[in-house]
Order: sequence, then C-alpha cells, then structure tokens
Amino acid sequence: MRAPTEAFAYRYTHYGDADVLKRHQYPLPTPGPGEVLVEVISTGINHMDAFLRNGKEDTWHDDPWPRASGSDFAGIVRGRGPGVSAVRVGSDVVGHIRTGAHASHVVLPADQLVLKHRAITWEVAGGLFLAGATALETLDDLRIGASDTVVISAAAGGVGSIEAQVARHRGARVIGTCGERNFDYLRQLGIIPVKYGEGIVERIQRAAGAPITAFIDNYGKDGREVADALGVPAERYRSSADRREVELRLLRDDPESVAHATNVLQRVVDLAGAGAFRLLVSGLYPIDDIVDAFEDLAQLHARGKIVLATRPVTRTRTLRAREVFERMP
Ligand SMILES: NC(=O)c1ccc[n+]([C@@H]2O[C@H](COP(=O)([O-])OP(=O)(O)OC[C@H]3O[C@@H](n4cnc5c(N)ncnc54)[C@H](OP(=O)(O)O)[C@@H]3O)[C@@H](O)[C@H]2O)c1
Repeated sequence: MRAPTEAFAYRYTHYGDADVLKRHQYPLPTPGPGEVLVEVISTGINHMDAFLRNGKEDTWHDDPWPRASGSDFAGIVRGRGPGVSAVRVGSDVVGHIRTGAHASHVVLPADQLVLKHRAITWEVAGGLFLAGATALETLDDLRIGASDTVVISAAAGGVGSIEAQVARHRGARVIGTCGERNFDYLRQLGIIPVKYGEGIVERIQRAAGAPITAFIDNYGKDGREVADALGVPAERYRSSADRREVELRLLRDDPESVAHATNVLQRVVDLAGAGAFRLLVSGLYPIDDIVDAFEDLAQLHARGKIVLATRPVTRTRTLRAREVFERMP
C-alpha cells in the first residue's frame, strides 16, 4: 500500500450542532522537532467536544477559526521529527490532544502519547483518554478505597462505567444509578444498580444497607440534594461542575498540564491493559458518520463509549451491547 499524501480532519467555522463539522482535506503534515505524526485508527467522542463546539464551554473562546474537534485517539506512529526517541515509527499508541483528534492524522508533541497495550483493542483504545482520566482523577481526589460505599450517577455511561469498575477494583462497594435497561450490564460488573428518579434516596438506602461514604454525580441534576439526604459529607461529594474542572484541566496545553494528563493516561492504559476495567464500546461509527455519532451521544443513553473508526471493516454501523429489544418497535 502506498503511503498517503493527504490527510483529513473534521473542523467547524462557527458554533453549532454537530452538523457544523465538515471534512477538510489537506496535505499530509510533517512533524517538527519533538513531534510525531500519528495515523488515527480510532477516536472517542465526549460531551466536552460538543460543549466546545456549540459554545456552551467557552474556556478557549479566543481560539482561532476554523476549529478542530476531538481529544481522544489511538493510532500508529507514521513519522518522527528531529529529537524524538521515545516512540518508534510503527508503534501503536494512545494519545491526548486538546483538540484535533477527529481526523485521519494528528501531529503532536511525542510526550502526549503512551504505548498501547496489546490486550487493548483499537476501538477501546480510542475512547480511553478523557473518560478514563476523568474517572481516575475523581476517584483519586476522593481517595475511594475498600472502606467506601460510593454512589455513582450515570454509572452505565462513559465516565461512570469506568469510575464504577475502578472503584470496585479498589474494593469499594458501588451503587450505580441508571435506567432499568442497564441493570444487567451493571450487575455483571459487580455494581448494584439503582434506578434514578423520584424515590431514589430510599432505593439507594435499601440497596446499600450501610452508610454512603461518597457520592459522584456525573449527571448533574439532583445529585447535591440526594447526597445531602443520604448524609454524605460535603468533602466526599463531587458534582458535575467539579467534573467540568477535571476535564478542562486534562485538556489544558501548558507543559505541566500536558505532563499530568500523559501520566494519568498511562495509568488508565495500564489499568485497561491489566483488565481492571472493561470499557464497553456500544457504538462504533465510521468517522464520516461523525454527525450521527454526536447525535447518538446527545441522547444521553449511551452505554460505555461511542467511538469513531477511520478504517471500519464495514460501512454498516456497528451497534453493540444495546440489545436487540431496544431496536424493536
Ligand atoms: N459539567 C460538565 O461540564 C460535564 C462534562 C461532561 C459531561 N457532563 C454530563 O455528564 C453526563 C454523563 O456524561 P458521560 O459522558 O459519562 O455519559 P454518557 O456516556 O453520555 O452516558 C449518559 C448516561 O447518563 C445516564 N442517564 C440518563 N439520564 C439520567 C438521569 N436522569 N440520571 C442519571 N443518569 C442518567 C444514562 O443511563 P441510562 O441509559 O441507564 O438512562 C447513560 O448511561 C452527561 O449528562 C453530560 O452532559 C457534564
């Protein structure tokens, strides 16, 4: 196969819904000093990508236009600039970038990559960064351990499913809020499912049979009141707003933040490689179906992650683990 001479990236010229994303073709870039060229194989989508694109998140409001999209990716190193020795051409890697991962290739500093473990499939590797790092940071911040009984909201979603599994791996008892359709999924992971909505406090108390020691609210509606009613100390509650801060910190591109994010990504990849958690990819979309993928995410009922693939084996969308009954009339 001849090496490609062109690359593409999804970009947008103004704030808006996913349909502002347009495929932009350009000559294959050359990495500069300290940089590598990575061919992207898989790249995850996150709510934060959508918030940056629709203007809800304005931390980088003075970024120039057009803007790129996406921060998670996994791929193969195709070129190295001067001074790069840590990774080789041909290495399988997982990386993080503030924006620009929804593309065929990325050029970025080599210190934003870690090696992909063989045990991790491409589709999973591409969805690990922002969800995995956010989950790990939140558990570390709360020092979740074996003496905890922790409630995690949206426990079947991207961040929640990793948080819940890693908390279990640390020996905690985990109660996950979800819709009934996800009860079996969470039970299989050793997580006690509790349906969200009215009466949730009593349901959690019945399911826990012990005091709740920590509460992580991913969903961001009534978490504070529920945690208060459960008697969770304020210092052991993390809100959706706290999660926003964690995600923004992981995306910052000053040297200290980049080094920190790479460190956390390495730990996420090590945990995934060791089987401490299994990231379920319940929607794998060809990258050119990026608009459909974001619309799927916006339904707020993804199980695990939604990931884009640059080399899908088929143009037919791969829908996994969202059982057949969900597609029945
Ligand atoms: N504050 C921020 O800046 C920030 C940043 C990123 C994300 N978020 C928010 O965090 C949430 C989760 O994000 P994610 O990426 O982890 O999830 P995700 O992969 O989009 O999954 C969404 C999950 O939310 C669950 N869910 C739906 N309605 C719920 C409700 N009323 N109560 C509790 N859970 C509910 C769904 O469970 P069922 O399918 O079982 O119903 C699903 O598993 C989203 O709402 C997102 O907007 C906030």
